[in-house]
Amino acid sequence: MTKQQMMEELRRHILDADVAPALRTQAIQLVMGDGNLDADIVFIGEAPGKNEDEQGIPFVGAAGKFLDEMLAAAGMQRDDVYITNIVKYRPPNNRDPEPEEKRAFWPYLLQQLEIIQPKVVVTLGRHSGAYFIPNLHISTDHGKSRKVKYHEQEFLVVPLYHPAAALYNGALRQTLIEDFLRIPDVLTQVAD
Ligand code: URA
Repeated sequence: MTKQQMMEELRRHILDADVAPALRTQAIQLVMGDGNLDADIVFIGEAPGKNEDEQGIPFVGAAGKFLDEMLAAAGMQRDDVYITNIVKYRPPNNRDPEPEEKRAFWPYLLQQLEIIQPKVVVTLGRHSGAYFIPNLHISTDHGKSRKVKYHEQEFLVVPLYHPAAALYNGALRQTLIEDFLRIPDVLTQVAD
């Protein structure tokens, strides 16, 4: 089976298992992810917003444009990486995802990573970051990579600020950009 087929099978599985039914009924669609299934780097945000729900693609609104700019500044394009969210339906009125919604999607996120087999996972914001790094303190831990292991998989996790939080905050914005520009170096640490 190709990675594409495996991801499609996983998508079907999420629908058949009726994951987070309360979110599902209010959302337009499931937003699985976007990008390269052979990517070395996977970015994981929080949950789709309005634009993402409408287009079925993660990070296409204002935060997504900022993400694209930072990718370009770090010498990458969307096609070089894979982008997804911990929660895959838009929460109503863009509220924060509830703990049980994150918990419901977590096993599927791990399965996505098993399919892609990235070397580096970049979490965007505390919702995904805290799942990989318990007791995450984003103000001191941002940009610091940690090795994590799930089943047979091992990769580096780099917790970053969320682009939406940093978009209009000068100091956070600068910090996020600086952390982002170091991602290619993190990758060289783990490249074979
Ligand atoms: N914010 C997120 O966390 N994810 C998206 O897909 C868009 C905005």
